Amino acid sequence: MSRPLLWKLCGSVAAGAVALFWVVNGLALHTEQQMSFVAPEHQATLVEYAAKAETLYTAGEMAELERWLDALQQKEKTWAAVVRSQVQPMAGSTLSQQFREGFRLGRNVGWKIHLYFEQNPIMDVTFADGHTHFLITLPQRMRPGAYWQQASVLLQVVVPLLLLGLLAFMLYQYLMSPLRKLEVATRQFSEGRLDIRVGSLAGARDDELTALAGTFDRMADRIAQLIRAQRHLIADLSHELRTPLARIDTAVDCADQGLFTDDLLARVRRDCRVMRRLVEDTLTLAWLENEQPRLDTECVDLTELLDSIVDDARFEFPQHGLSVDLPDQALLYNSNHRILGQAIENVVRNGLSHQPTGAELRIALRQTLRGFTITVCDQGPGVPEPHLEAIFRPFFRHGDTPNGLSTGFGLGLALARRQIESLQGSIHAENRPGGGLRMVITLVRHRVTDGQL
Ligand SMILES: Nc1ncnc2c1ncn2[C@@H]1O[C@H](COP(=O)(O)OP(=O)(O)OP(=O)(O)O)[C@@H](O)[C@H]1O
Ligand SMILES: [Mg+2]
Repeated sequence: MSRPLLWKLCGSVAAGAVALFWVVNGLALHTEQQMSFVAPEHQATLVEYAAKAETLYTAGEMAELERWLDALQQKEKTWAAVVRSQVQPMAGSTLSQQFREGFRLGRNVGWKIHLYFEQNPIMDVTFADGHTHFLITLPQRMRPGAYWQQASVLLQVVVPLLLLGLLAFMLYQYLMSPLRKLEVATRQFSEGRLDIRVGSLAGARDDELTALAGTFDRMADRIAQLIRAQRHLIADLSHELRTPLARIDTAVDCADQGLFTDDLLARVRRDCRVMRRLVEDTLTLAWLENEQPRLDTECVDLTELLDSIVDDARFEFPQHGLSVDLPDQALLYNSNHRILGQAIENVVRNGLSHQPTGAELRIALRQTLRGFTITVCDQGPGVPEPHLEAIFRPFFRHGDTPNGLSTGFGLGLALARRQIESLQGSIHAENRPGGGLRMVITLVRHRVTDGQL
């Protein structure tokens, strides 16, 4: 499983750690280097002391040299001396030229001083004769690296803290910028801006946070679509309820005036029945749309189901012909008897009510590789091509039935589509070349689950 964000974070932390080590180490080396030399003015002072000693020594003024050395030691609170060295090669060995010229008893004033040594080093300025040396323990006031302790704390604590803080801040910004956009989008969406999406805000990123933005967008699409569908449903439902309610109002007024007749009572009953069906169908539709329930839990014999629907239809529409082409048995697992029955009944009833009296409705059931196909072909006027999809929208109606049988609200096919989709199937309409409408229901056969055997 690819986790780009994990790799990006790992990479950033690893690169940050290496950079931190590199920067701190470089800074420490550079600072130590800068702090390890005796300051040029102190070097000059030491060289001056040596020159003075050499002058006295060369002039043979030993007493004066001794006094001067005493005074110098007191002044600088250190040890100073003028000494002569003599290197005696032993056992037949010889002195190299390099050693002879570079031989010293202490450190040259220009050499690096070790800051970690507690004791101050002995400095050596060799006289012109090459074997007499002015030696002096470096006076404390000339010792370099006075701020080395503070610099160490700065380099080992403050700089790493700052660099790590910077790295953490950059990572935080990297993670938070899409999350902040998501938070703003969520707030705006919750305030009713149903069109808000975050996909375009992700830019060139491609990681887990982009996937989160994609999921948010899909969720927003679904919720926006649901809310819009609900608004339409409520608007259409209240519009449809207006007429029967107005008629019931009138009937109540008539009853008030003592004009109530059996005919009026029958009409009120009919209106109540119509309103109940309207509300029930709308609620079922809203439930199917909102919940998207899994209803495919039964095994249905489609032949048996279609037989019983055809029997009912023959009884309800005796003036129409009905031909069926069914196999002996067509078992469909993962289905639902009641839901599928209602959907097919709606389609069959539509076909019968839209074709002229005496025409024949043909129902066929075919087994396919993936499941079954049910076709219902009528001989009515069909549906204008641009409306072939629209007839599945709630409350969509187009024209009158030729025999005036339909009193529908345009909910039948909307319900049928959602019912069939809840069984993982599909339904569509097409006009037949010879006239009439063909409704095609495709049902997919799934694996058998134990409970259905
Ligand atoms: N077989 C058909 N032939 C011609 N038009 C059809 C056919 N079936 C459906 N339609 C058109 O599609 C519209 C929607 O059909 P639907 O079944 O959803 O609603 P209805 O039959 O008008 O009402 P309801 O089914 O709610 O009682 C119908 O009003 C009709 O215009
Ligand atoms: Mg209908």
